[in-house]
Amino acid sequence: MPRVLRTDPVNPDRRVIEEAAAVIRRGGLVAFPTETVYGLGCDAFNGRAALKVFRAKRRPPDNPLIVHIADFGQLGEVASNVPDYVWEAARKAWPGPLTFVLQKAERVPREVTGGRSTVAVRMPAHPVALELIRAAGTPIAAPSANVSGKPSPTAAEHVLEDFADNPLVDVVIDGGPTFFGVESTIVDVTRDPPLLLRPGPYTLEELEKILGRRVEVPAFARGIAEAEEAVAPGMRYRHYSPETPLLVVECPHERGLVETLVGLAKDRLRRGLKVALLVSREVADLVDEALHGPVHIVVVGSRQNLYTVAKNLYRALRDLDKLDVDIGIAEGYEERGVGLAIMNRLRKASGQNVVRCL
Ligand code: TXA
Ligand code: MG
Repeated sequence: MPRVLRTDPVNPDRRVIEEAAAVIRRGGLVAFPTETVYGLGCDAFNGRAALKVFRAKRRPPDNPLIVHIADFGQLGEVASNVPDYVWEAARKAWPGPLTFVLQKAERVPREVTGGRSTVAVRMPAHPVALELIRAAGTPIAAPSANVSGKPSPTAAEHVLEDFADNPLVDVVIDGGPTFFGVESTIVDVTRDPPLLLRPGPYTLEELEKILGRRVEVPAFARGIAEAEEAVAPGMRYRHYSPETPLLVVECPHERGLVETLVGLAKDRLRRGLKVALLVSREVADLVDEALHGPVHIVVVGSRQNLYTVAKNLYRALRDLDKLDVDIGIAEGYEERGVGLAIMNRLRKASGQNVVRCL
């Protein structure tokens, strides 16, 4: 049974941080907010604590954790042979939602890296996460704080949906909703050109700029194919999945998009199914006119600012399961900027169940 400790996200409560840091130091587990999603953290140098994280999440042991650091000195403690261009890029991007896969330092236990010779590292920008790492006096290994296969938690309530009865989780720090709502961008810089393993809030366009090189974008990073285990251990599992079947509609033009969404919804209604639409505010207004009434409309954000869609996406996917509908039909977005991260999540959540307009 975790204890829930509440704090202001921007000015973390000293007592909350100290109490949670003490739990980390003695090998316990703390769920905490980052700017992306909530993490389930432990001392990154404690292999036994890391095993508890895997058990709590029911995560396969070969799917490694991300190590979170609070200062640049800690990068040298957890990674080795960091190329100069990566140091420079890290100094531009951190703290922030960008994770580098690097060669690991001896000291990082094999439990954390799933037996790999590489380690994923990031410096989160959330004040609570940074203060917690500092107070614990050690880097914190943390995957997203959800049971494996569920959408990542963007609020403490989501963490409790998955872990309220779990005796392995000692503390949940409730710092309110997270800022970005999708997990960090992950880039493997042990290879040249670097390989994008997971798109996130730190966009590909920005990433190529700070790295000073082209970054390869494999099909699995777009969510349209499975990854090979050897390249991206975590990317082959069915991820971010609501229980309700999900269909994604991808159209280059708004008119085709609205027509297709309305057509699909009407078809499913005719077959006696209960339907929810996961759409932007702009599209919601248009489909509402055509359908008036029988479908649930979940507004995810605005097409004018895809960060609003990213922020609400996982909540919308969790809400879908609470609506008592037979199918969710989601609007697709342009694969540009943070849109790439959104489409990766949506395609995976749907199990590649995608309808494309001509
Ligand atoms: O925003 C985030 O990244 C959040 C917050 C808590 O920091 N964390 C997160 O962790 O999303 P998780 O475990 O849900 O996703 C980490 C991904 C996994 O797919 C894992 O396979 C991959 O990072 N990963 C970790 N270490 C790796 C490595 N050495 N090589 C390749 N992929 C790695
Ligand atoms: Mg995860």
